Amino acid sequence: MERGIALQAREATHRYADGRVALDRVTFTVATGESVAIVGPNGAGKTTLFLRLCGVLIGARDQFSVLGLDPADPKHRKQLPQTVGVVFQNPDDQLFSATVTEDVAFGPLNLGCSEAETLARVEKSLAKVGLPDHGDRVPNKLSGGEKRRAALATALAMRPEILLLDEPSMFLDPRGRRELIALIRELSCTKLIATHDLELVLDTCSRVLLLDCGKVVADGPTVEILSDAVRMEQHGLEVPQRLQRGAG
Ligand SMILES: Nc1ncnc2c1ncn2[C@@H]1O[C@H](COP(=O)(O)OP(=O)(O)OP(=O)(O)O)[C@@H](O)[C@H]1O
Ligand SMILES: [Mg+2]
Repeated sequence: MERGIALQAREATHRYADGRVALDRVTFTVATGESVAIVGPNGAGKTTLFLRLCGVLIGARDQFSVLGLDPADPKHRKQLPQTVGVVFQNPDDQLFSATVTEDVAFGPLNLGCSEAETLARVEKSLAKVGLPDHGDRVPNKLSGGEKRRAALATALAMRPEILLLDEPSMFLDPRGRRELIALIRELSCTKLIATHDLELVLDTCSRVLLLDCGKVVADGPTVEILSDAVRMEQHGLEVPQRLQRGAG
């Protein structure tokens, strides 16, 4: 069966106000339902890419297509939040309400969901991320890992068709990380995951895009890209333990 196109980047370039080029003619296509890892050293442009895709950063028109929407087109931008969900690298950018419940309810209420529907989504999302009893907590008093989970719940509550996860396993304890991997595998939406956690990539993504200095330097099947020791080292990365020679 032919799969539709979820995301497209066409020669996408991002230059910050100070002149720094963070994305340099990035081109790729992601099919509906694909799970793609974005890997690369610090400063490669992973977060910038996500911020452009979800419309937080605005650049030139016609460089990105998000299920047919152009995040740089003001007419399309209103539809973006229900199409593409993001979990930001820093959860403090995502959590701003007085309680966790309010934070998770914010998106669905903005979409026009009824109070009952919103509450159902809040409960389900908090349960999914392992925070069923944290609805009344103050977000900025949560631990790092709890904040990460709460931020993921805010994105899940929107039921987006595309999910962008920026360093989702950061701050999670080993059990939390395993639960996150299981949750990612269970989600059927299209996923882009920016991460330095290459073991997580092996468990959740069939394809890897390797970025460095704002450029796509490799794009292919996960094991093929991550086991190329020479290329990985050239770009400041290491072959994950599981793929190292002799690992069984
Ligand atoms: N607001 C900004 N103004 C100027 N330059 C910026 C800004 N934000 C990011 N950059 C620069 O853009 C480049 C890409 O940054 P980005 O945050 O996208 O990298 P990243 O791949 O997400 O890195 P990390 O692995 O550390 O999260 C870096 O050189 C960074 O210093
Ligand atoms: Mg980043």
